[in-house]
Amino acid sequence: MRFERTLILIKPDAMQRGLAGEIIKRIENKGLKIVGIKMLKMDKKLVEEHYNKYKEKPFFPVLERFMSSTPIIAMVVEGIEAISVVRRMIGKTNGREAESGTIRGDFSMSISKNLIHASDSEENAREEINRFFKEEELISWKRIDEIIYSEDELE
Ligand code: PPS
Repeated sequence: MRFERTLILIKPDAMQRGLAGEIIKRIENKGLKIVGIKMLKMDKKLVEEHYNKYKEKPFFPVLERFMSSTPIIAMVVEGIEAISVVRRMIGKTNGREAESGTIRGDFSMSISKNLIHASDSEENAREEINRFFKEEELISWKRIDEIIYSEDELE
């Protein structure tokens, strides 16, 4: 089966609320492997590039101020079908509608302050990983608990 990499951003509200550890814990507990991680402050240029398709939306100025307000944590995680797995773990965009058990469902009450971003397709994952990480910042390594997959899943 296919191993994928996906980009995760731990947003300013999660940083302010001290929820970065909780989010990383959930990602690790699930069995996803961190292959890149860094803390950075997004400037307006980077926010505009990352959220380019929403540039004309009325909420964009708020989103821009929010995303550049404090540092964030950017991570690349890897696993079989990682892109859809992480999307399900984070839940719907609107924290008020996200299912309990998801990260947003358990900790967010907002559409904008929804704690976490994750790539939603293979194409976007590739583009977003390249936006935040250089090739040499991503590390391939073997996690002992790859035993979480059955042998036929690893073929
Ligand atoms: S949509 O409405 O289906 O296009 O939304 P989605 O693709 O899930 O993501 C929209 C991203 O913009 C952020 N954002 C808002 N969306 C909708 N309405 C308002 N008011 C709003 N404010 C901010 C939202 O958190 C999504 O961010 P990411 O980081 O992609 O999850």
